[in-house]
Amino acid sequence: MDREPVSELNNARILVFGASGGLGAPITTKLARAGARLAVSGRNTDALTATGAHIIAADLRHVDSARTVLAEAADKLGGLDGIVIAAGVVAFGPAAELDDDVVDDLLIVNYLAPLRIIREALTVLEPAGFVLNISAVVADQPVAGMSAYSASKAAISAFVASVRIEARRSTIRVIDVRPPHTETGLATHAIAGNAPHLPTGLTPDQVAERIVAAIVNDETDVPPPEFTTSS
Ligand SMILES: NC(=O)c1ccc[n+]([C@@H]2O[C@H](COP(=O)([O-])OP(=O)(O)OC[C@H]3O[C@@H](n4cnc5c(N)ncnc54)[C@H](OP(=O)(O)O)[C@@H]3O)[C@@H](O)[C@H]2O)c1
Repeated sequence: MDREPVSELNNARILVFGASGGLGAPITTKLARAGARLAVSGRNTDALTATGAHIIAADLRHVDSARTVLAEAADKLGGLDGIVIAAGVVAFGPAAELDDDVVDDLLIVNYLAPLRIIREALTVLEPAGFVLNISAVVADQPVAGMSAYSASKAAISAFVASVRIEARRSTIRVIDVRPPHTETGLATHAIAGNAPHLPTGLTPDQVAERIVAAIVNDETDVPPPEFTTSS
């Protein structure tokens, strides 16, 4: 009955969305080094082969992708102890110039897809499991030129906070992390607009390290200052 807590990553069965990304890749590497058994998902499957994990191709803009990816991962790994959502997109530009398709993609990939994954996770994860979503500093501190991105991150952050209250009586841990700007290259492949001048961000390794520490240390909420104060 009593399972090893998932903070013990050795042999934990973990699914990572966006494992090819600037943050997803180092998180995946660190989880693998800690002994986790991994499934990884993204659109560009070539970029996922280096992980050595079971690969599940999926575009999170498709409404069924959360359900199908979680089902395949649980099947391949023999159950699921954890899920990391490191997939996301960004767009820049004044609100008046936001294109409808760009707004749709921001809200689908950054808000609706994680919502669907987390909703599904609550029924699929093993007891003492966790689901972690990467929101962003802009959920707490929205900025000009990133209105729809900021709103998509604030929306998923609020969703996670509500689900965490609902899940209090269950053993499933729902984790929200809100890193500051990080040098992953995300700003250079925005789905629209050009990034404003941004001060040098944190290193992906630094942020990934803090995120994996949150999993191991049974944390549920990692606000922006937690990424810049050394622990
Ligand atoms: N970098 C920062 O400054 C920063 C700061 C705070 C929060 N964040 C958040 O952290 C997360 C990861 O960002 P990152 O910097 O690592 O960005 P990144 O390097 O661009 O990685 C984004 C990842 O998302 C996946 N993805 C994008 N659209 C997808 C879709 N439609 N379906 C499935 N997967 C999709 C990509 O995989 P494919 O190419 O295979 O689709 C890729 O693995 C994002 O949610 C971002 O908002 C980033």
